[in-house]
Amino acid sequence: MRVIITKDYDQMSLWAANYVAQRIVEKNPTQENPFVLGCPTGSSPLGLYRNLIKLYESGRISFQNVVTFNMDEYVNLPVDHPQSYHSFMWNNFFSHIDIKKENVHILNGNATDLMKECEDYEKAIEAVGGIDLFMGGVGPDGHLAFNEPGSSLGSRTRVKSLTTNTIQANSRFFDNDVNKVPRQSLTVGVGTVMAAKEVLIVCNGPQKSNALHHIIEEGVNHMWTASALQMHQHGIIVCDEDATVDLRTSTYQYFKDIQQAELDKYINLY
Ligand code: GLP
Repeated sequence: MRVIITKDYDQMSLWAANYVAQRIVEKNPTQENPFVLGCPTGSSPLGLYRNLIKLYESGRISFQNVVTFNMDEYVNLPVDHPQSYHSFMWNNFFSHIDIKKENVHILNGNATDLMKECEDYEKAIEAVGGIDLFMGGVGPDGHLAFNEPGSSLGSRTRVKSLTTNTIQANSRFFDNDVNKVPRQSLTVGVGTVMAAKEVLIVCNGPQKSNALHHIIEEGVNHMWTASALQMHQHGIIVCDEDATVDLRTSTYQYFKDIQQAELDKYINLY
């Protein structure tokens, strides 16, 4: 796993966006052979999306031949609800780039048959040849997408109940009222994310430092589902200094040293 330690949120977001842009450019995608991008929601990737939009606006990248699959969606929340992940993605990313509507895939949390919706999602990912790059964030308890602690590390897209911890954390988007937060979600599994050719996780702020410690310094463990990244052949965590406060000094120094060139390369790319 590569761990890239950036100085702050802005640098983390710039690094991640430049990295994703470079992967898209390198593939030179076509309609027949698109670039398949996995997309997260949450506050962490907002800066990454803003930077990708800037790269599109300056003509450096196009999303014409990019197909996306989102990580998750709440169950029983209207699609046009301001806090649905559909709204989040269109408001913060898709409406600002040249992506084709038919290339956007987001789980339908209002489907009459939720299990079928999840099975069809996995089939759709397979039909385009799998995900080239899955971007993600982590919850304060180390969860990936909505794969809460204890989720199978081999799991696939399915219905998941949210933990009290996540309901409390996400209530900030629902007038700080835990009763307004949906209780269930549809989410890709840990196994779905790990099947991607590459995985890039953004992790920032002191509230994520304990999760980062477990994901990087402890063993692979279903109680910290993002720790499955240790098993991925091409896994990257890009974090800010604030998120590293619970890492051992030796771990911090090690990754600062070994990843310096990689840090510089993508910061200065565009
Ligand atoms: C939600 C999402 C996750 C996200 C997490 C952290 O639970 N399902 O995909 O990583 O929130 O969000 P934030 O980036 O706002 O801390």
